[in-house]
Amino acid sequence: MGYALVQGASRGIGLQFCRHLLNRRPTTFVIATCRQPDSAAELQSLLKEYPARLQIMQLDVSNEEKIASTAREVKEHLHGNKSKGLDLLINCAGMLHPSGRGETSLKAVSQEGLMSTFATNAFGPLLMAKYFGEHLTKGSGEFGQPSSDTSSHSGVLVNMSARVGSISDNGYGGWYSYRMSKSALNMASKNLSIEFSRGRRKVICISLHPGTVDTDLSRPYHKNVPVDKLFTSEYSVETMMKVIENLTVEDSGKFFDFDGKEIPF
Ligand SMILES: NC(=O)c1ccc[n+]([C@@H]2O[C@H](COP(=O)([O-])OP(=O)(O)OC[C@H]3O[C@@H](n4cnc5c(N)ncnc54)[C@H](OP(=O)(O)O)[C@@H]3O)[C@@H](O)[C@H]2O)c1
Repeated sequence: MGYALVQGASRGIGLQFCRHLLNRRPTTFVIATCRQPDSAAELQSLLKEYPARLQIMQLDVSNEEKIASTAREVKEHLHGNKSKGLDLLINCAGMLHPSGRGETSLKAVSQEGLMSTFATNAFGPLLMAKYFGEHLTKGSGEFGQPSSDTSSHSGVLVNMSARVGSISDNGYGGWYSYRMSKSALNMASKNLSIEFSRGRRKVICISLHPGTVDTDLSRPYHKNVPVDKLFTSEYSVETMMKVIENLTVEDSGKFFDFDGKEIPF
């Protein structure tokens, strides 16, 4: 049995990743983490449907101690099930800004807005890598493909980024907290790819843009998005899973669009 952990699984894209993995990969056990499991109604319904292959754990990604204790719990769980490690970790939790809307000008920038957006979008995923990296180095390479040379990988770490985090692609400005936090996340992915390439058990680490997806996060902007450019979470996750399934060690450290095209940093 393979093990996947989806961090930020209560709603939107994270919830859909859980649903997809449970529906499509009958040999994958899914650990879904979220801030408030009791009020994550759709995740709880999934648990009723898949009680033997889904475990829900409470985790706020802005709380380092909680990340550390959850990593210990997951280790016990894996060992209890005679599994060596984690095959896939998807850092999905994210926020546009505490106000729900990105800043349109400097006047709207605040220390509090920057701090909380960075805590969730950039620091949290890096701390997840710190505490769950060891589990990923013990994965069995269930996700991704063998490399063309002799290097093999154990686990895959996906950081859910956003195209607006690309510095070279920034044509409009604005959204200071969100853009900067996703650029920082991309740097974390690149750094992690270098550190995780050194060991014998390599971990592939990428940043991934899901497209513009019909979720709560993008809702305030839906009217500006052409209908054919606003994806359902089902479509976005289906295409992103194809990218994940096809990753090799050579892809590590890169930033990909939902359909596998590389995005320049
Ligand atoms: N939707 C898009 O068009 C789009 C485009 C580009 C990138 N993305 C990225 O895709 C990812 C998922 O976004 P989405 O569209 O699915 O957004 P969403 O529907 O608003 O869901 C956001 C998720 O993040 C969780 N979360 C927020 N802060 C958290 C924290 N401190 N600890 C744990 N969980 C936390 C939320 O949990 P609660 O239920 O507890 O609030 C929720 O599960 C994000 O990283 C986002 O930046 C989305």
